[in-house]
Amino acid sequence: MHGRFSATVLILLILLVALRATRAQRKSPDAAPHPWYQHAVFYEIYPRSFMDSNGDGIGDLNGIAAKLDYLKALGVDAIWIAPCFPSPQVDFGYDVSDYENIDPMYGTLADFDRLQKLGAEHGIKIILDLVVNHTSDQHPWFLDSRSSRTAPKRDWYIWRDGKDDGPPNNWISNFGGSAWQWDNATKQYYYHYFYVQQPDLNWRNPAVVEAMFGTTEWWYKRGVAGFRLDAVDSLYEDSALKDNPVLPGTNDFGDPKIENKYTQALPEVHTALQGLRTVANKYNAVLIGETWTDNVAQLKPYYGVANDELQMPMDLLLTKLKFSAPVFREHIDAVEAIGEWPVFVIGNHDIVRSWNRYGDGQHNDQIAKAMAAMFLTLRGTPIMYYGDELGMQNNDPARREDVKDPIGRLGWPKEKGRDGERTPMQWSNDANAGFTSGTPWNAIPETYKTYNVADELKDPNSILNWYKQLLALRRSNPALLDGDYLALNENDPNVLSYLRKTKNDAVIVVINMSAAPRTVNFKLSKQRLNAKPAQTLLTTQPSLRTNSSAAQLSLEPFAVYIAALNKK
Ligand code: NOJ
Ligand code: CA
Repeated sequence: MHGRFSATVLILLILLVALRATRAQRKSPDAAPHPWYQHAVFYEIYPRSFMDSNGDGIGDLNGIAAKLDYLKALGVDAIWIAPCFPSPQVDFGYDVSDYENIDPMYGTLADFDRLQKLGAEHGIKIILDLVVNHTSDQHPWFLDSRSSRTAPKRDWYIWRDGKDDGPPNNWISNFGGSAWQWDNATKQYYYHYFYVQQPDLNWRNPAVVEAMFGTTEWWYKRGVAGFRLDAVDSLYEDSALKDNPVLPGTNDFGDPKIENKYTQALPEVHTALQGLRTVANKYNAVLIGETWTDNVAQLKPYYGVANDELQMPMDLLLTKLKFSAPVFREHIDAVEAIGEWPVFVIGNHDIVRSWNRYGDGQHNDQIAKAMAAMFLTLRGTPIMYYGDELGMQNNDPARREDVKDPIGRLGWPKEKGRDGERTPMQWSNDANAGFTSGTPWNAIPETYKTYNVADELKDPNSILNWYKQLLALRRSNPALLDGDYLALNENDPNVLSYLRKTKNDAVIVVINMSAAPRTVNFKLSKQRLNAKPAQTLLTTQPSLRTNSSAAQLSLEPFAVYIAALNKK
């Protein structure tokens, strides 16, 4: 009897210890103080299009500096500037010919230092865009590499002999055609995952690795707070050059569809990221990854097994989903399931503007506000795209001859290129949207006359003022900054509802994602909260402003309701 009793006690003790251990392992967002980038709001600037200070029709660093007050008032903590390094601009800066300078079109290093200093005064950090996978074909490294088979930098790029009078294998460029370019002078092919003018660096060469690590350090010493790493997936290719599996059908460029099995996300990528992180850690810098994945679970390895790779791999999958409560709920659940710090993105310079993408053609402004509410109240760090806060709209070129982005000319009309999402920032309803006194490099949509900073600031119901309120709330609310995410009403097909909850604070977020009025009920005793009284923090629906209970809500189409709740 006594023996059986001690055995039971022992088992109970073991269970208790095991339970404690599991709890300790589950990372609670409340557990540790947060590194700066987890509480920051990031904002992507496409420098060609933000603000032109010298009338040449192209945005520049001094233009960005002139708009820091705007960014600060908006509630931005860090700006990621798409590549502003010297470049022939074949891929609008993603073809870098010197990693340690500024393209004269954008200014000088002195302008950069000034921007950095002014940024610090405004509490805004600078993130640069590091194109790690490839350089321009005009970079001195490549000029040397292509000069002869025995050139010192020949092995800095990927040179191979052809096969059967053709390229070495079936690899296809992401930007159309074979990924191999014949070089008549040295009678070999070089590999380029993107444009012909963007030869891939050979990351298996330690000298390349050292050069890229050195570049990051050079900028950290200048005060840069981190990098957005371009195309990290493509750093390595199979060294045996195995053919990629061919899938049925063709893509928008008319090339056979292939699975990038031997050209994307090779395990060696992680070693490179660990190295970049080691350098970043010396400067408390952040690494943001351009991590396109097939599913959310594939994001997990980019954080690193020992949290020693990217602090912020971007969840770009959200940009592919349609605006729907069940679709987003499922996605958020998947993001939460990986147990890391999420990084949400709803738009960037490579994809159709969020206003158009999520919009239904009739209620796009309301949907833009609903998207903002979700994007800025989820657990994690948001990365905004300039102009989304205004409801800026895509402006695709109407004719092939107007296209500036080379993939648009190649893939026309199926692929119109990316000019449409890269139009100048709409500052006012003045000529050229107040972006330039010259001729803008890219066409501005007529809608700028109402969707612009100056006019929206005056309108309390504008998308811009909605963003400003959300960002201010997020900044001041501990539950929104650090709280756990808890899904509510998980079977509701129309209304997305969730809690953000810390030990002491709780916020409920309710978003009607449908075009019809909806009623929702909440019983929150299981969550140890009272549904009433509730203090409305922010809502798009005037009748809910003075609402004092979250027990039952009658929501107008696309309405957003955010309220603070009290503990039981
Ligand atoms: C991803 C960038 O976002 C895109 O704009 C660019 O064309 C490719 N990488 C190649 O650098
Ligand atoms: Ca300019």
